[in-house]
Amino acid sequence: MSLSVVILAAGKGTRMRSNLPKVLHPVAHQSMVEHVIDSARMVNSDNIYLVYGFGGELLQQRIQGDDLTFVEQAQQLGTGHAVDMASAYLKDDEDVLVLYGDVPLTKVSTIEKLINAKQDGGMALLTVNLANPTGYGRIERLGGNVVGIVEQKDATAEQLEITECNTGILLANGGDLKRWLGNLSNENAQGEYYLTDIIAMAHGENKSIHTAHPDTEVEVEGANNRVQLANLERAYQLRKAEELMIAGASLRDPNRIDIRGKVTVGSEVQIDVNCIFEGNVSLADDVAIGANCIIINSQIGQGASIKPNSIIENATIGENCSAGPFARIRPGTEMKAGSHVGNFVEMKNTTMREGAKAGHLTYLGDSDIGKKVNIGAGTITCNYDGVNKSKTIIKDGAFIGSNASLVAPVTIGEMATTGAGSTIAKDVEDNTLAVSRAKQRNIQGWARPTKKAK
Ligand code: UD1
Ligand code: CA
Repeated sequence: MSLSVVILAAGKGTRMRSNLPKVLHPVAHQSMVEHVIDSARMVNSDNIYLVYGFGGELLQQRIQGDDLTFVEQAQQLGTGHAVDMASAYLKDDEDVLVLYGDVPLTKVSTIEKLINAKQDGGMALLTVNLANPTGYGRIERLGGNVVGIVEQKDATAEQLEITECNTGILLANGGDLKRWLGNLSNENAQGEYYLTDIIAMAHGENKSIHTAHPDTEVEVEGANNRVQLANLERAYQLRKAEELMIAGASLRDPNRIDIRGKVTVGSEVQIDVNCIFEGNVSLADDVAIGANCIIINSQIGQGASIKPNSIIENATIGENCSAGPFARIRPGTEMKAGSHVGNFVEMKNTTMREGAKAGHLTYLGDSDIGKKVNIGAGTITCNYDGVNKSKTIIKDGAFIGSNASLVAPVTIGEMATTGAGSTIAKDVEDNTLAVSRAKQRNIQGWARPTKKAK
């Protein structure tokens, strides 16, 4: 049977105090509604209908997919009216799942429970027991069976005692849903077309109404303001941190990590506090990440150690490498096994071959650094002449003295040496020493300047 998903996202989100439509506000790396769309796709939906009211242009710019149809709800006349906007697209013989664009943390496993709960001919509701049910629609049961939902504002004192609440998320047959939506009225306390009224209609037709429940409340929470959004962010981050720990990583503090993408870890990975991971990051076995590191779209090889305050982006760090503290490793950089960069070393589009080292205060751009090369402190590759970028090649075993300027394009030969403080603008042959600096003069008996009388 095919599955269509209707995502309600027409609310303006006034309480966000933002020009951005509410559902475009982010949790971790993507907007709330993108999380919901991801979940819909993970339960193998065939079509997704996004019901929007505001910022349609922006939504369509930001969110794309062949399976996505944008459906406008020009006036917000209620949740039933919102779902009805998609009715023209829904097929009679398919399942229709209703999700909310501002409820981003519903687990796929919970949606699957809901899908499994619906037996043929019936429908399924995701409900949750809340200690404080204020504001929610209450689930009415008779002899254990669900017979309806009553909204807070329409409820009697007795109904307000019910703690089983409607999350809003439900699953019904397309044909049934369209028929019920067509019969909704807005004669209620809020003058809205309530989606929740279809439950009594289903009961009236003797349809079975099944329920499923989330594992935690946060799965069904929405964000109406930035405080709630921040709470969802922390809940999401804790969930990701727990996934990493279950996968074998040790986190010094699972409350102090941010994962904005997908991180995979090997065993015995250690992550200290306040690290941010973005995009696709993989950490192999025995990797140690120090405090305050930012790692973006990078692979870190087995046994590598990233020291505190390092930033690594679009780079590959090989086995047993070490980087930092305060290393900045920029896109296109590859550190091969056992290479090392220390504090205040910046690299861009550079290969550090096996065992090469740059311990301190260095910029290596567009470079190929050979095996076991030693780069002295303060070495700068002058890779940019203001117009063009050029390459620096340093062959295996070379030794670059401290405070060198390597003016690219330039090649330093195998086992060559450059003297400290040299500006190297010409190629250096293998096994050669190149020194290029003003000769030192020692002036004996030189008198220091004295203060001039005024
Ligand atoms: C709704 C449910 C309530 C449930 C609660 C869970 C109804 C009538 N009530 O109440 O039983 O406990 O959610 O949070 O369904 N929306 C539209 N178009 C509209 C109206 C709403 O797209 O015309 C969207 C909103 O953007 C929001 C969602 O639907 O994402 C829920 O709307 P809201 O008005 O917050 O419903 P509640 O009163 O909270
Ligand atoms: Ca609500």
